[in-house]
Amino acid sequence: MAGERESIHGQWSSRLAFILAATGSAVGLGNIWKFPYIAGENGGGAFVLVYLLCIAVIGIPIMMAEVLLGRRGRQSPINTMRTLAAEEGASKYWRLLGWAGVLAGFLILSYYSVIAGWAMSYVFRTGSGLFTGLTADGVQSIFNNLISDPERLLAWHTLFMVMTMIIVARGVRSGLEKAVKLLMPILFVILFVLVGYAWNSGAFDEGVKFLFQPDFGAITANGVLIAMGHAFFTLSLGMGAIMVYGSYLPGDASIAKTSIAVSLMDTTVALLAGLAIFPIVFANGLEPGAGPGLIFQTLPIAFGHMQYGAFFGMLFFVLLVFAAWSSSISLIEPAVAWLVENKGMTRVYASIVAGFATWAMGLLTVLSFNLWSDVKLLSMIEVFEDYTLFDLLDYLTANIMLPLGGLLIAVFAAWKMSRASSVDELGMGDRFFYRLWRFLVRYITPVAVIIVFLNAISLI
Ligand code: PFF
Repeated sequence: MAGERESIHGQWSSRLAFILAATGSAVGLGNIWKFPYIAGENGGGAFVLVYLLCIAVIGIPIMMAEVLLGRRGRQSPINTMRTLAAEEGASKYWRLLGWAGVLAGFLILSYYSVIAGWAMSYVFRTGSGLFTGLTADGVQSIFNNLISDPERLLAWHTLFMVMTMIIVARGVRSGLEKAVKLLMPILFVILFVLVGYAWNSGAFDEGVKFLFQPDFGAITANGVLIAMGHAFFTLSLGMGAIMVYGSYLPGDASIAKTSIAVSLMDTTVALLAGLAIFPIVFANGLEPGAGPGLIFQTLPIAFGHMQYGAFFGMLFFVLLVFAAWSSSISLIEPAVAWLVENKGMTRVYASIVAGFATWAMGLLTVLSFNLWSDVKLLSMIEVFEDYTLFDLLDYLTANIMLPLGGLLIAVFAAWKMSRASSVDELGMGDRFFYRLWRFLVRYITPVAVIIVFLNAISLI
């Protein structure tokens, strides 16, 4: 029955708390830092269209599948998969899916934390008025100074990992839930303020055109893979983060409605970020394909010229750090929940163990922007010619591991799990919307992921 098991880690206080926490996980650097720069690198409109399609056809159904599995298993993804596989008479190797998720979360957090560190250092840069009146060149050189200094990056990365570990150690209700309740609404407001600034920047039309006018000549098979990978990344899908959050969801909450709400909020934030950033890019003659530094090289120009810019700028980066924070805790939660369940650790100890390992892995990313910026492991393959260690880590996790994880989650939920179990857990009856969901996860999602993979492989 829905909600029959109990999680040893506790439960969200309500459906709203889950929506906020899942939105907290989904909305993060992916929306504000990553979406604009990959849209910029992949030509804009057509890329955005593919991304939106992937959210609707692949993302929402898989999110429902993940929450469904999580709530039914009520444990860490590894143990949830083990329990459900036994219950549904499927192979015991399905637990490896949980392991793959833990690995993906570990790898993603290792670089996510470094980028969150950039955002933290920008709280102080903007707040002190450093950008006031600066031109694009000045702003760019400030960014380059930051990333070329490994010690500074390491210090911020360390601080962010400690912050993550503290919240995770405090547990589901007191730690994770409180942090997101307040911050999400403020983030929306400030994004609107920024879009307002972009509106007056003189190049709003150009920005809108870039984002929404599809030029199919500008997108490649690899671009389609990146758009699909990003749909997984931005919704936190394919690695068990949403599954573990689902395991804390009260039994009577509607999985479909909550998944749709979370996806809509996530998409809105990404589009608002794009609308804030591209007009500034064009108004200042910047390059949309500038890469991971894009928001750090564009938004400070806006803050440097608007009234009370130092204040708004500081507020913006504070919120970005909080958005990243509420995502980072979900990246490490599957591993921590497993350590508590299987190794008998306390949450505090488990957070330290998982956090330390992730911190150490983060050194690769720290160095890939400076001392090791010339290390290009896959330079013999044309598509990856310029990929640094950070680029490869990001590509491997977002574009390969998450879609593969999502594919397997879909296969389990729609092929291995009995119809009766999924009807019961989704709680919408065996009617139209249930059937639509089942059709999507059974056929459309797996086929779409495989086609996109095959297309991209043919490039290599
Ligand atoms: N969704 C987060 C973002 O857009 O920043 C990143 C993320 C969190 C990815 C949790 C995956 C995950 F499991």
